[in-house]
Amino acid sequence: MSGFWNVWVWVLTLGTLAGCLWLLQSLTTRRKEKLPEDKSTTGHVWDGDLVELNNPLPRWWLWLFWITGIYMLVYLIIYPGLGTFAGIGGWSQRSQYEAEMAKAEKRFGNVFAAFADTPIPDLARNADALRLGRNIFLNRCATCHGSDGRGAKGFPNLSDTAWLWGNAPEAIIATITNGRTGNMPALGPALGEQGVTEVIAYLRALPKLAAGTEPATLAPDATAGQQKFMSFCIGCHGVDARGNQMLGAPNLTDSDWLHGSTDADIRDVLMKGRSNQMPAQADILSPDRIRVLTAYVLSLRESSGAQP
Ligand code: HEC
Ligand code: HEC
Repeated sequence: MSGFWNVWVWVLTLGTLAGCLWLLQSLTTRRKEKLPEDKSTTGHVWDGDLVELNNPLPRWWLWLFWITGIYMLVYLIIYPGLGTFAGIGGWSQRSQYEAEMAKAEKRFGNVFAAFADTPIPDLARNADALRLGRNIFLNRCATCHGSDGRGAKGFPNLSDTAWLWGNAPEAIIATITNGRTGNMPALGPALGEQGVTEVIAYLRALPKLAAGTEPATLAPDATAGQQKFMSFCIGCHGVDARGNQMLGAPNLTDSDWLHGSTDADIRDVLMKGRSNQMPAQADILSPDRIRVLTAYVLSLRESSGAQP
Protein backbone atom coordinates (compact mmCIF):
# COMPACT_ATOMS: atom_id res chain seq x y z
CA MET A 1 0.00 0.00 0.00
CA SER A 2 1.47 3.36 -0.98
CA GLY A 3 2.10 6.06 1.62
CA PHE A 4 -0.87 8.12 0.51
CA TRP A 5 -3.43 5.31 0.78
CA ASN A 6 -1.97 4.28 4.12
CA VAL A 7 -2.55 7.79 5.54
CA TRP A 8 -5.96 7.92 3.83
CA VAL A 9 -7.08 4.72 5.62
CA TRP A 10 -5.84 6.04 9.00
CA VAL A 11 -7.59 9.39 8.56
CA LEU A 12 -10.83 7.83 7.31
CA THR A 13 -11.01 5.14 10.00
CA LEU A 14 -10.00 7.24 13.01
CA GLY A 15 -11.91 10.25 11.67
CA THR A 16 -15.11 8.20 11.45
CA LEU A 17 -14.63 6.87 14.98
CA ALA A 18 -13.91 10.33 16.41
CA GLY A 19 -16.87 11.72 14.47
CA CYS A 20 -19.25 9.10 15.88
CA LEU A 21 -18.10 9.65 19.45
CA TRP A 22 -18.35 13.44 19.06
CA LEU A 23 -21.86 13.10 17.70
CA LEU A 24 -22.78 10.88 20.62
CA GLN A 25 -21.35 13.37 23.12
CA SER A 26 -22.93 16.42 21.56
CA LEU A 27 -26.40 14.89 21.27
CA THR A 28 -26.44 13.55 24.82
CA THR A 29 -28.96 15.56 26.82
CA ARG A 30 -28.21 15.96 30.46
CA ARG A 31 -30.37 14.04 32.85
CA LYS A 32 -32.83 16.41 34.38
CA GLU A 33 -34.82 16.20 37.52
CA LYS A 34 -38.07 14.80 36.26
CA LEU A 35 -40.95 17.12 36.81
CA PRO A 36 -44.31 15.89 35.63
CA GLU A 37 -45.04 19.16 33.83
CA ASP A 38 -41.62 19.37 32.19
CA LYS A 39 -42.43 17.67 28.96
CA SER A 40 -39.88 18.66 26.33
CA THR A 41 -41.24 17.46 22.99
CA THR A 42 -39.97 17.31 19.44
CA GLY A 43 -42.79 19.61 18.42
CA HIS A 44 -44.53 16.98 16.34
CA VAL A 45 -48.25 16.79 17.00
CA TRP A 46 -50.79 14.37 15.57
CA ASP A 47 -54.55 14.22 15.94
CA GLY A 48 -54.57 17.47 17.88
CA ASP A 49 -53.04 16.21 21.15
CA LEU A 50 -50.68 13.34 20.36
CA VAL A 51 -47.10 14.60 20.91
CA GLU A 52 -43.66 13.04 20.60
CA LEU A 53 -41.57 13.35 23.78
CA ASN A 54 -37.87 14.19 23.51
CA ASN A 55 -36.58 12.03 26.35
CA PRO A 56 -32.86 11.23 26.69
CA LEU A 57 -31.70 7.75 25.67
CA PRO A 58 -31.62 5.28 28.53
CA ARG A 59 -28.13 5.37 30.10
CA TRP A 60 -27.41 1.69 29.44
CA TRP A 61 -28.11 2.26 25.79
CA LEU A 62 -25.82 5.26 25.69
CA TRP A 63 -23.09 3.23 27.34
CA LEU A 64 -23.40 0.54 24.71
CA PHE A 65 -22.47 3.15 22.09
CA TRP A 66 -19.43 4.26 24.12
CA ILE A 67 -18.32 0.65 24.68
CA THR A 68 -18.63 -0.08 20.94
CA GLY A 69 -16.41 2.90 20.14
CA ILE A 70 -13.80 1.93 22.72
CA TYR A 71 -13.90 -1.69 21.53
CA MET A 72 -13.19 -0.53 17.99
CA LEU A 73 -10.19 1.51 19.17
CA VAL A 74 -8.73 -1.40 21.16
CA TYR A 75 -9.34 -3.75 18.21
CA LEU A 76 -7.50 -1.44 15.83
CA ILE A 77 -4.52 -1.31 18.20
CA ILE A 78 -4.27 -5.13 18.53
CA TYR A 79 -5.32 -6.33 15.04
CA PRO A 80 -4.43 -5.12 11.54
CA GLY A 81 -6.96 -2.56 10.31
CA LEU A 82 -5.18 0.77 10.03
CA GLY A 83 -3.44 0.79 6.65
CA THR A 84 -0.07 -0.96 6.83
CA PHE A 85 -0.02 -1.02 10.65
CA ALA A 86 0.01 -4.74 11.54
CA GLY A 87 -1.39 -4.34 15.06
CA ILE A 88 0.54 -5.10 18.25
CA GLY A 89 -1.03 -8.57 18.59
CA GLY A 90 1.07 -10.04 15.75
CA TRP A 91 -2.02 -11.71 14.23
CA SER A 92 -2.29 -12.29 10.48
CA GLN A 93 -4.53 -14.46 8.29
CA ARG A 94 -1.47 -16.23 6.98
CA SER A 95 -0.01 -17.05 10.42
CA GLN A 96 -3.38 -18.33 11.59
CA TYR A 97 -3.71 -20.48 8.46
CA GLU A 98 -0.20 -21.88 8.90
CA ALA A 99 -0.76 -22.63 12.58
CA GLU A 100 -4.00 -24.45 11.76
CA MET A 101 -2.37 -26.42 8.95
CA ALA A 102 0.51 -27.43 11.23
CA LYS A 103 -1.99 -28.57 13.85
CA ALA A 104 -3.94 -30.58 11.26
CA GLU A 105 -0.75 -32.13 9.89
CA LYS A 106 0.21 -33.22 13.43
CA ARG A 107 -3.21 -34.77 13.89
CA PHE A 108 -3.82 -36.36 10.47
CA GLY A 109 -0.29 -36.78 9.10
CA ASN A 110 0.13 -39.97 11.14
CA VAL A 111 -3.09 -41.38 9.78
CA PHE A 112 -1.69 -41.23 6.24
CA ALA A 113 1.82 -42.28 7.27
CA ALA A 114 0.31 -45.49 8.67
CA PHE A 115 -0.48 -46.53 5.08
CA ALA A 116 2.98 -45.66 3.71
CA ASP A 117 4.15 -49.29 3.57
CA THR A 118 0.94 -50.88 2.28
CA PRO A 119 1.09 -51.69 -1.46
CA ILE A 120 -1.34 -49.54 -3.45
CA PRO A 121 -3.43 -52.46 -4.80
CA ASP A 122 -4.09 -53.45 -1.16
CA LEU A 123 -4.93 -49.87 -0.23
CA ALA A 124 -7.48 -49.86 -3.06
CA ARG A 125 -9.39 -52.53 -1.09
CA ASN A 126 -8.90 -50.96 2.35
CA ALA A 127 -12.10 -49.22 3.44
CA ASP A 128 -10.29 -46.79 5.80
CA ALA A 129 -7.80 -45.72 3.15
CA LEU A 130 -10.57 -45.30 0.56
CA ARG A 131 -12.60 -43.13 2.93
CA LEU A 132 -9.60 -40.82 3.43
CA GLY A 133 -8.86 -40.86 -0.31
CA ARG A 134 -12.45 -39.98 -1.11
CA ASN A 135 -12.30 -36.95 1.21
CA ILE A 136 -9.22 -35.60 -0.57
CA PHE A 137 -10.79 -36.36 -3.95
CA LEU A 138 -13.97 -34.45 -3.12
CA ASN A 139 -11.92 -31.50 -1.87
CA ARG A 140 -9.28 -31.23 -4.53
CA CYS A 141 -10.28 -33.21 -7.63
CA ALA A 142 -14.06 -33.29 -7.93
CA THR A 143 -14.30 -29.74 -9.33
CA CYS A 144 -12.72 -31.01 -12.55
CA HIS A 145 -13.25 -34.77 -12.58
CA GLY A 146 -16.72 -34.79 -10.99
CA SER A 147 -17.65 -36.12 -7.55
CA ASP A 148 -17.98 -39.64 -9.02
CA GLY A 149 -14.73 -39.28 -11.06
CA ARG A 150 -16.60 -39.62 -14.36
CA GLY A 151 -15.14 -36.37 -15.71
CA ALA A 152 -16.60 -34.10 -18.37
CA LYS A 153 -15.65 -32.81 -21.81
CA GLY A 154 -11.90 -32.10 -21.62
CA PHE A 155 -11.60 -33.64 -18.13
CA PRO A 156 -10.91 -37.37 -18.28
CA ASN A 157 -13.23 -39.97 -16.81
CA LEU A 158 -11.17 -41.74 -14.12
CA SER A 159 -13.62 -44.61 -13.69
CA ASP A 160 -13.37 -46.12 -17.19
CA THR A 161 -10.72 -48.23 -18.93
CA ALA A 162 -9.30 -45.52 -21.22
CA TRP A 163 -6.14 -43.88 -19.84
CA LEU A 164 -4.16 -41.05 -21.40
CA TRP A 165 -1.10 -41.51 -19.21
CA GLY A 166 -1.60 -45.05 -17.93
CA ASN A 167 -3.16 -46.59 -14.84
CA ALA A 168 -0.15 -48.31 -13.29
CA PRO A 169 0.06 -47.01 -9.69
CA GLU A 170 3.39 -45.27 -10.48
CA ALA A 171 1.87 -43.57 -13.53
CA ILE A 172 -1.06 -42.23 -11.51
CA ILE A 173 1.24 -41.09 -8.69
CA ALA A 174 3.35 -39.24 -11.29
CA THR A 175 0.22 -37.70 -12.86
CA ILE A 176 -1.03 -36.39 -9.52
CA THR A 177 2.36 -35.31 -8.16
CA ASN A 178 3.79 -33.51 -11.19
CA GLY A 179 0.65 -32.81 -13.22
CA ARG A 180 0.41 -33.48 -16.96
CA THR A 181 -0.02 -31.43 -20.11
CA GLY A 182 -1.57 -33.14 -23.12
CA ASN A 183 -0.36 -31.27 -26.23
CA MET A 184 -2.29 -31.90 -29.41
CA PRO A 185 -0.93 -29.51 -32.08
CA ALA A 186 -3.28 -27.47 -34.28
CA LEU A 187 -2.93 -29.33 -37.58
CA GLY A 188 -5.80 -27.63 -39.42
CA PRO A 189 -3.51 -25.22 -41.28
CA ALA A 190 -1.27 -28.09 -42.45
CA LEU A 191 -4.15 -30.41 -43.42
CA GLY A 192 -6.59 -27.89 -44.90
CA GLU A 193 -10.40 -28.19 -44.59
CA GLN A 194 -10.56 -31.08 -47.08
CA GLY A 195 -7.63 -32.85 -45.41
CA VAL A 196 -9.40 -32.63 -42.04
CA THR A 197 -12.56 -34.13 -43.58
CA GLU A 198 -10.49 -37.01 -44.99
CA VAL A 199 -8.68 -37.67 -41.70
CA ILE A 200 -12.02 -37.77 -39.87
CA ALA A 201 -13.32 -40.27 -42.47
CA TYR A 202 -10.27 -42.41 -41.70
CA LEU A 203 -10.83 -42.17 -37.92
CA ARG A 204 -14.46 -43.29 -38.48
CA ALA A 205 -13.18 -46.27 -40.50
CA LEU A 206 -10.78 -47.40 -37.76
CA PRO A 207 -13.30 -49.57 -35.84
CA LYS A 208 -14.25 -51.28 -39.14
CA LEU A 209 -10.59 -51.92 -39.96
CA ALA A 210 -10.09 -53.34 -36.48
CA ALA A 211 -13.09 -55.62 -37.10
CA GLY A 212 -11.39 -57.03 -40.22
CA THR A 213 -12.59 -54.83 -43.11
CA GLU A 214 -10.08 -54.83 -46.00
CA PRO A 215 -8.32 -51.41 -46.31
CA ALA A 216 -8.81 -51.64 -50.10
CA THR A 217 -12.61 -51.43 -49.65
CA LEU A 218 -12.49 -48.09 -47.79
CA ALA A 219 -14.19 -45.02 -49.25
CA PRO A 220 -11.80 -42.73 -51.19
CA ASP A 221 -11.98 -40.03 -48.47
CA ALA A 222 -10.90 -42.52 -45.82
CA THR A 223 -8.03 -43.81 -47.97
CA ALA A 224 -6.78 -40.25 -48.54
CA GLY A 225 -7.18 -39.64 -44.80
CA GLN A 226 -5.11 -42.72 -44.03
CA GLN A 227 -2.18 -41.30 -46.02
CA LYS A 228 -2.42 -38.01 -44.13
CA PHE A 229 -2.68 -39.89 -40.84
CA MET A 230 0.55 -41.75 -41.65
CA SER A 231 2.46 -38.54 -42.28
CA PHE A 232 0.99 -36.24 -39.60
CA CYS A 233 -0.29 -38.30 -36.72
CA ILE A 234 1.53 -41.57 -36.12
CA GLY A 235 4.44 -39.86 -34.30
CA CYS A 236 2.12 -39.42 -31.34
CA HIS A 237 -0.97 -41.59 -31.86
CA GLY A 238 0.97 -44.56 -33.29
CA VAL A 239 0.68 -46.43 -36.61
CA ASP A 240 -2.31 -48.34 -35.28
CA ALA A 241 -3.84 -45.12 -33.81
CA ARG A 242 -3.94 -46.76 -30.39
CA GLY A 243 -2.17 -43.82 -28.76
CA ASN A 244 0.98 -43.42 -26.69
CA GLN A 245 0.85 -43.11 -22.93
CA MET A 246 4.33 -41.56 -22.81
CA LEU A 247 2.89 -38.50 -24.57
CA GLY A 248 -0.65 -38.66 -23.22
CA ALA A 249 -1.85 -39.21 -26.82
CA PRO A 250 -5.23 -40.95 -26.65
CA ASN A 251 -6.29 -44.15 -28.38
CA LEU A 252 -8.39 -43.04 -31.37
CA THR A 253 -9.84 -46.48 -32.12
CA ASP A 254 -12.11 -46.78 -29.08
CA SER A 255 -15.44 -45.13 -28.36
CA ASP A 256 -14.00 -42.90 -25.65
CA TRP A 257 -13.65 -39.26 -26.74
CA LEU A 258 -12.17 -36.77 -24.29
CA HIS A 259 -13.17 -33.75 -26.35
CA GLY A 260 -16.46 -35.03 -27.78
CA SER A 261 -17.35 -37.63 -30.38
CA THR A 262 -19.16 -35.70 -33.15
CA ASP A 263 -17.44 -34.80 -36.42
CA ALA A 264 -17.64 -31.14 -35.37
CA ASP A 265 -15.91 -31.91 -32.04
CA ILE A 266 -13.07 -33.78 -33.75
CA ARG A 267 -12.74 -31.09 -36.43
CA ASP A 268 -12.40 -28.50 -33.68
CA VAL A 269 -9.60 -30.48 -31.98
CA LEU A 270 -7.76 -30.84 -35.30
CA MET A 271 -8.17 -27.20 -36.32
CA LYS A 272 -7.34 -25.56 -33.00
CA GLY A 273 -5.28 -28.20 -31.17
CA ARG A 274 -5.45 -28.66 -27.41
CA SER A 275 -3.17 -27.97 -24.51
CA ASN A 276 -4.93 -29.72 -21.67
CA GLN A 277 -3.55 -29.42 -18.16
CA MET A 278 -3.79 -31.54 -15.08
CA PRO A 279 -2.41 -29.33 -12.26
CA ALA A 280 0.52 -30.67 -10.17
CA GLN A 281 -0.34 -31.42 -6.53
CA ALA A 282 3.20 -31.83 -5.14
CA ASP A 283 3.07 -28.50 -3.26
CA ILE A 284 -0.36 -29.23 -1.79
CA LEU A 285 -0.51 -32.95 -1.01
CA SER A 286 2.15 -34.96 0.84
CA PRO A 287 3.47 -38.15 -0.83
CA ASP A 288 1.57 -40.26 1.74
CA ARG A 289 -1.67 -38.53 0.81
CA ILE A 290 -1.00 -38.96 -2.91
CA ARG A 291 -0.58 -42.73 -2.41
CA VAL A 292 -3.92 -42.97 -0.61
CA LEU A 293 -5.53 -40.81 -3.32
CA THR A 294 -4.05 -43.03 -6.05
CA ALA A 295 -5.63 -46.05 -4.40
CA TYR A 296 -8.97 -44.22 -4.38
CA VAL A 297 -8.65 -43.35 -8.10
CA LEU A 298 -7.95 -47.03 -8.88
CA SER A 299 -10.97 -48.10 -6.83
CA LEU A 300 -13.28 -45.89 -8.95
CA ARG A 301 -13.25 -48.36 -11.80
CA GLU A 302 -14.31 -51.27 -9.61
CA SER A 303 -17.10 -49.26 -8.05
CA SER A 304 -18.35 -47.99 -11.43
CA GLY A 305 -18.84 -51.54 -12.68
CA ALA A 306 -16.80 -50.87 -15.86
CA GLN A 307 -15.64 -54.00 -17.67
CA PRO A 308 -11.89 -54.52 -18.11
C1 HEC B 1 -8.22 -27.90 -12.80
C2 HEC B 1 -8.80 -29.15 -13.16
C3 HEC B 1 -8.23 -30.41 -12.55
C4 HEC B 1 -8.09 -30.75 -11.23
C5 HEC B 1 -8.40 -29.90 -10.00
C6 HEC B 1 -7.59 -32.08 -11.20
N1 HEC B 1 -7.44 -32.55 -12.47
FE1 HEC B 1 -6.79 -34.41 -13.00
N2 HEC B 1 -6.80 -33.84 -14.92
C7 HEC B 1 -7.26 -32.66 -15.43
C8 HEC B 1 -7.11 -32.64 -16.86
C9 HEC B 1 -7.51 -31.52 -17.79
C10 HEC B 1 -6.51 -33.86 -17.21
C11 HEC B 1 -6.14 -34.33 -18.61
C12 HEC B 1 -4.74 -33.96 -18.92
C13 HEC B 1 -4.44 -34.34 -20.33
O1 HEC B 1 -5.28 -34.04 -21.19
O2 HEC B 1 -3.40 -34.95 -20.56
C14 HEC B 1 -6.34 -34.60 -15.96
C15 HEC B 1 -5.81 -35.87 -15.90
C16 HEC B 1 -5.79 -36.66 -14.76
C17 HEC B 1 -5.37 -38.03 -14.70
C18 HEC B 1 -4.85 -38.85 -15.88
C19 HEC B 1 -6.02 -39.53 -16.56
C20 HEC B 1 -5.56 -40.42 -17.66
O3 HEC B 1 -6.42 -40.81 -18.46
O4 HEC B 1 -4.37 -40.77 -17.72
C21 HEC B 1 -5.52 -38.45 -13.40
C22 HEC B 1 -5.21 -39.83 -12.84
C23 HEC B 1 -6.02 -37.33 -12.66
N3 HEC B 1 -6.18 -36.26 -13.51
C24 HEC B 1 -6.30 -37.36 -11.31
C25 HEC B 1 -6.59 -36.22 -10.59
C26 HEC B 1 -6.67 -36.21 -9.15
C27 HEC B 1 -6.50 -37.39 -8.24
C28 HEC B 1 -6.94 -34.92 -8.80
C29 HEC B 1 -7.07 -34.35 -7.39
C30 HEC B 1 -5.82 -34.16 -6.69
C31 HEC B 1 -7.05 -34.14 -10.01
N4 HEC B 1 -6.83 -34.96 -11.07
C32 HEC B 1 -7.34 -32.80 -10.04
C33 HEC B 1 -7.80 -31.62 -14.70
C34 HEC B 1 -7.81 -31.55 -13.33
C1 HEC C 1 2.62 -33.97 -31.00
C2 HEC C 1 1.82 -35.15 -30.81
C3 HEC C 1 0.52 -35.27 -31.58
C4 HEC C 1 0.32 -35.24 -32.93
C5 HEC C 1 1.36 -35.04 -34.01
C6 HEC C 1 -1.09 -35.45 -33.13
N1 HEC C 1 -1.72 -35.58 -31.95
FE1 HEC C 1 -3.70 -35.82 -31.68
N2 HEC C 1 -3.46 -35.64 -29.70
C7 HEC C 1 -2.25 -35.58 -29.04
C8 HEC C 1 -2.48 -35.48 -27.64
C9 HEC C 1 -1.41 -35.40 -26.57
C10 HEC C 1 -3.87 -35.47 -27.46
C11 HEC C 1 -4.63 -35.36 -26.14
C12 HEC C 1 -4.94 -33.91 -25.89
C13 HEC C 1 -5.48 -33.74 -24.49
O1 HEC C 1 -4.85 -34.26 -23.56
O2 HEC C 1 -6.50 -33.09 -24.36
C14 HEC C 1 -4.45 -35.58 -28.78
C15 HEC C 1 -5.83 -35.60 -29.01
C16 HEC C 1 -6.37 -35.89 -30.24
C17 HEC C 1 -7.78 -36.06 -30.49
C18 HEC C 1 -8.89 -35.94 -29.45
C19 HEC C 1 -9.19 -37.30 -28.89
C20 HEC C 1 -10.32 -37.33 -27.90
O3 HEC C 1 -10.40 -38.34 -27.18
O4 HEC C 1 -11.12 -36.39 -27.84
C21 HEC C 1 -7.92 -36.37 -31.79
C22 HEC C 1 -9.21 -36.65 -32.54
C23 HEC C 1 -6.61 -36.37 -32.35
N3 HEC C 1 -5.69 -36.07 -31.39
C24 HEC C 1 -6.35 -36.64 -33.69
C25 HEC C 1 -5.11 -36.44 -34.26
C26 HEC C 1 -4.88 -36.55 -35.68
C27 HEC C 1 -5.92 -36.96 -36.68
C28 HEC C 1 -3.59 -36.18 -35.86
C29 HEC C 1 -2.86 -36.07 -37.18
C30 HEC C 1 -3.52 -35.25 -38.17
C31 HEC C 1 -2.99 -35.90 -34.57
N4 HEC C 1 -3.96 -36.06 -33.63
C32 HEC C 1 -1.69 -35.53 -34.38
C33 HEC C 1 -1.02 -35.58 -29.62
C34 HEC C 1 -0.77 -35.48 -30.97
